[in-house]
Amino acid sequence: MSLADLRAREDAALLPTYARQPVAFVEGRGATLYDDEGAAYLDFLCGLSVTSLGHAHPAVADAVDAQMRRLVHVSNLFYTEPQIALAERLGALAGWDDARAFFCNSGAEANEAAIKLARRWGKQRDPGKVRVVSLAGGFHGRTLAALLATGSPAKHAPFAPLGDWVTHVPHDDPEALAEAVDGDVCAIWLEVVQGEGGVRPLSAAMLATARELCDRYDALLVADEVQTGIGRLGAWYGWQTTDVVPDVVCLAKALGGGLPIGAILAHGPAAGAFGPGDHATTFGGGPVIASAALAVLDTLEAEGLVARAGELGAALSARLDALVERHDLAVGHRGRGLLQALVLDRPVAADVAAAALDERLVVNAVAPDAIRLAPPLVIDEADLDTMAERLSAALDRCTADQGATP
Ligand SMILES: Cc1ncc(COP(=O)(O)O)c(C=O)c1O
Repeated sequence: MSLADLRAREDAALLPTYARQPVAFVEGRGATLYDDEGAAYLDFLCGLSVTSLGHAHPAVADAVDAQMRRLVHVSNLFYTEPQIALAERLGALAGWDDARAFFCNSGAEANEAAIKLARRWGKQRDPGKVRVVSLAGGFHGRTLAALLATGSPAKHAPFAPLGDWVTHVPHDDPEALAEAVDGDVCAIWLEVVQGEGGVRPLSAAMLATARELCDRYDALLVADEVQTGIGRLGAWYGWQTTDVVPDVVCLAKALGGGLPIGAILAHGPAAGAFGPGDHATTFGGGPVIASAALAVLDTLEAEGLVARAGELGAALSARLDALVERHDLAVGHRGRGLLQALVLDRPVAADVAAAALDERLVVNAVAPDAIRLAPPLVIDEADLDTMAERLSAALDRCTADQGATP
C-alpha cells in the first residue's frame, strides 16, 4: 500500500481535521520509527511528548498483555486494584500523602475534569466564584471548556461563543495576572513550560505571583502537566523543577506509554471538592491502562530515567548551542529537560521540520519560528549526535533554499 493510496483512502474516509506529514509509520523500537518502505527515522517528537520509554517497550507490552488476559473492563461501578495503585503512586511521586486522583482518557478530559473540580470548589465557597484565569499561549485541549481555557483566540473563533468565564492574561506578566484575579476566580490555569504555545517556560515571578494570588483569593492553582509531567523536565512533575506547589495537576500523554489516559491529582482542600456523581467516565482508569501506566512509572523509576532526563536535557542544550553557533537561521533555544525548542530567525519552522523528515529525523514546528525537540527519555548521547547532524543538514537545506539572509 503506497503513501498515495493511503492518502486517497484517508481523504475518502476521514474528516479532514489533520494536516499529515507525508510518511506512514508501521513499526517502532526505542527511539527509532520505521516507515512503510523500511526506512528508519530517529524519533525526537515522541508522538507529541507521549512515548517517553520509546516505542514497543517490553515492560508496557507485557503489562498490557497480562492484564488483557485477566480483566479488561468492568466500568467504574466496581473496585479495580490497578486504578487504586496508580492513584497511590501518583500521589507518592508528588510527595502528597493526602492526594486524590481522578482518571479519564486524554489531556483535554483531564482539563475538563479539573475545570469542573475548580468550579465545584468555587461554588462551595460562593455561587459566583466560577471564573478561571489562564494564560495567552496556553494549550489545554480541544473540548469546549478546555478550548475556552486555551489561550489562542484563533482556535476559539470558529466555535464561538464559548462562554465568558475565562479571562486570558499575557503569558508572563505578573501585573496583568494580579489585575485579572479577584474573589470570583476559582482557579488560575498554567503550564510551567507552555508546550504547544512554543515551549516557553514561565518565569519564577509569574509562578510565584500565581501561587500568591491563589492563596489570597482562595482559588486553586492548576498546573496543566499534560506535556511536562511524568519525567520529561527532569522531575516527576514539572512543578517540582520550580519553587511553587500547585493544588491540582492535570496529566495525560506520557503516563500511558503511548496508550490513552488522562488524570487529575488534587491535594489539600482541593481534594475534597468532588463528591459522588460530580464527575464520571466509563473507561477512565480501567485495569489495562492503569497497568500500562504503572509499568511506565516502574520502568522510569527502575532505570533512573527521570533524573537522567535532566542530565540529557543539558546535553541537548549543548547540541542546540552548537547548531545556533553554526547556522544563521538558528538563533537560540528554550525549554527544560527533554522538552526544548530551537528558535529560528524567521517563520520557516515547517520547512525545517519537513527537511528534517527527509533527513530521517522526526521533529515538529511547534511555532512558526520554533522546532520542538521532545525525544524519548531512553535516548543516549549518540542519539543526540545523530539528531544534531540531521537537524544541521535540514537547516543547511532550508538556508540554501531560501538564501542566507532573511
Ligand atoms: C498542556 C496540554 N494540555 C492539554 C492537552 C490536550 O491533550 P489531548 O490531546 O490528549 O486531549 C495538550 C496536548 O497537546 C497539552 O499539551
